[in-house]
Amino acid sequence: MTILLRMPRRREVWIDALEKRFPERTIVVSANDIVRKGVDASDIEYVIGWNIKWAELSQYPNLKAVLLSSAGIDHVDWDAIPEGVTVTRLIDPSMSNEIAAYAVYWVLNYARSFDLYRAQQDQALWELAPSHPNQTVGILGLGAIGTIVADRMGDFDYPVVSWSRSAKTTPYGRHYVGPDELLEFFEASDYVVNLLPLSEPTRHLVGASELTALGSGVLINAGRGGTVDTEALLKALDGDLRAAVLDVFETEPLPADSPLWKHSKVNLTPHVAGETNPYTAVEVIGDNIDRIERGEDPLTLVTPSTY
Ligand code: GLV
Repeated sequence: MTILLRMPRRREVWIDALEKRFPERTIVVSANDIVRKGVDASDIEYVIGWNIKWAELSQYPNLKAVLLSSAGIDHVDWDAIPEGVTVTRLIDPSMSNEIAAYAVYWVLNYARSFDLYRAQQDQALWELAPSHPNQTVGILGLGAIGTIVADRMGDFDYPVVSWSRSAKTTPYGRHYVGPDELLEFFEASDYVVNLLPLSEPTRHLVGASELTALGSGVLINAGRGGTVDTEALLKALDGDLRAAVLDVFETEPLPADSPLWKHSKVNLTPHVAGETNPYTAVEVIGDNIDRIERGEDPLTLVTPSTY
């Protein structure tokens, strides 16, 4: 009847949310905590979190599920998941909204030239920037989160196009499909909001040719760092690309010597675009635990072949 929480961020809030949702369960967060609370390895039924210690999972003979606190599953060590243990990811509407707000904020920053006005302020310069009507926002990866970003951009009347690996019907502008239409998608976009998960087919999907096709546009990456070829991005930034907004990186934390930190065309944030709200996340995770307890399949089940 124990839940092991492996969560580096906002751990106290997560514990509070879990204790409220599961008053009858013991919540532990570390090896020391397990000893202190007298928990036996056989008591641990659920592991929740982000920085899961994959090697320890096999020590819990009654483990039923690993419930990730992320939408992304690229960090899962599938070989370490014991036979019969279920893995779920987190699709939390509040997290999707946060990512949409992040994307809208940055698109508006550039589309409305707020970046230029901030620079002009330093010189007490009162000058209107050229207007850019009808700039197109391209959503790279039209899943649960991409759809919300597309809706929000549509609310502000921005033309929206999208790309994904499989065909989709959308109420927005053209949906581009698969590798053959990727360059066309980049050409059609002034802003690309990258929400792609990382998997073999998406690794470095955004490379030199795609960035050239984006021209003087803006790349916003709130998906996974590994989907963008960083070397190619740095070259594009030294060329025509107007800016890059980066929340995710090939290596996290971003090493202090990365040239991205100081690049004048880069705005970067430490993987916070979709900061999870533990209370809403625990509702979603709790529903999955209830389902598993009733012998049903959880929602958002993932397997090595999900992407
Ligand atoms: C965050 O990056 C997530 O995958 O949820």
